[in-house]
Amino acid sequence: MPVIVTIMHELDVEIPETPAGRYRIHIGRSILDTVWAALEAEYPKLKKFIVTDADVVAAGHLRRLLGDVPVPAHIIDPPGEGSKHIGTVIAIVDAMEKAFLGRDTLIVALGGGTVGDIAGFAAAIFKRGVNVVQIPTTTVAQADSSVGGKTGVDSAISKNAYGVFWQPAAVYIDVAALATLDDRQYRAGLVESVKHALIADAKYFDYLETHMPAILARDGAALEHIALKNCRIKAAVVEEDPTEKNRRRILNFGHTIGHAVESASGFQLLHGEAVAIGIVAAEYIAQKMDMAAPQRLARIENLLSSLSMPLKIPRGLQKAALIDIIKRDKKAVNQWPRFVLLEAIGRAYCRDGQWAHDVSPQIVDETLDRLYA
Ligand code: GLY
Repeated sequence: MPVIVTIMHELDVEIPETPAGRYRIHIGRSILDTVWAALEAEYPKLKKFIVTDADVVAAGHLRRLLGDVPVPAHIIDPPGEGSKHIGTVIAIVDAMEKAFLGRDTLIVALGGGTVGDIAGFAAAIFKRGVNVVQIPTTTVAQADSSVGGKTGVDSAISKNAYGVFWQPAAVYIDVAALATLDDRQYRAGLVESVKHALIADAKYFDYLETHMPAILARDGAALEHIALKNCRIKAAVVEEDPTEKNRRRILNFGHTIGHAVESASGFQLLHGEAVAIGIVAAEYIAQKMDMAAPQRLARIENLLSSLSMPLKIPRGLQKAALIDIIKRDKKAVNQWPRFVLLEAIGRAYCRDGQWAHDVSPQIVDETLDRLYA
């Protein structure tokens, strides 16, 4: 029987290291209720196992995906970064073993960035690796984390301390799933779209400036447009550098100080909120290094403010604690990170073929001082 899925856009990500050499991103509106039939048609021999969380279940997304089909599942509860630890991965592997699953398993990750990261990591290690399909339901996951194969969980000290690259077999993005996302998470996830525009596409930045009211109103056409833009930008970078040897680092723009602020806040700040502060930090650094005129920062701050993002570090966070985390950044060499900077809006800075740059401890220190509210 033919499977009819209302797909508006399809995009292939070419990654030679993956078993199929490529995977497809499907983007559409209200496609969630047809995805299961598509998965059964595409992977008839694989046994399915769902990883999702309690928020996704409460929002009705699991029911829309499955209808009444009984499928073994692990539901992460409580949802959120607090559950993104190795204990959750152990629980998922235990549940899969109890369901007698083997290497002929397809893990279906339904949810936001945390669900996708945990499920992808479980897929990478279960019996030395099984397939995973990502079905992102939040702005951050649809813009960023569902594509590109970064998977992992946090240690007690660092974000994503346990992790591997494990590309998905496919990604299904239903922008209608965003209708139920709470406003704070919705807005914070849009910061990854701002990041993509800043590093790679000035016209996309213009689009975000002019269409932000429609995006915030969750207009379907605007959401499809940004989903497609985000995936095109991300896919192009990931295809060139799947394991982040060099250019993929630009996808970490704003994340060095952003991750530190997020962790030091005990995850009271959402990822996107912390990255917004990290983006402003990167611009302060660029100004210190005579790479950016103040007007550029003003434009970026205006766009982030239209998302109600914080632009300053909350007073309670200690500078020493932030520096301690910054030293553990994955781009760090000899305990000091390198920073992704902008040459212009829409273009990450590249010098001598390198996309991450040395910045002196003094400039970082002065930047942090300037960033306090
Ligand atoms: N989120 C950054 C990356 O996927 O490389």
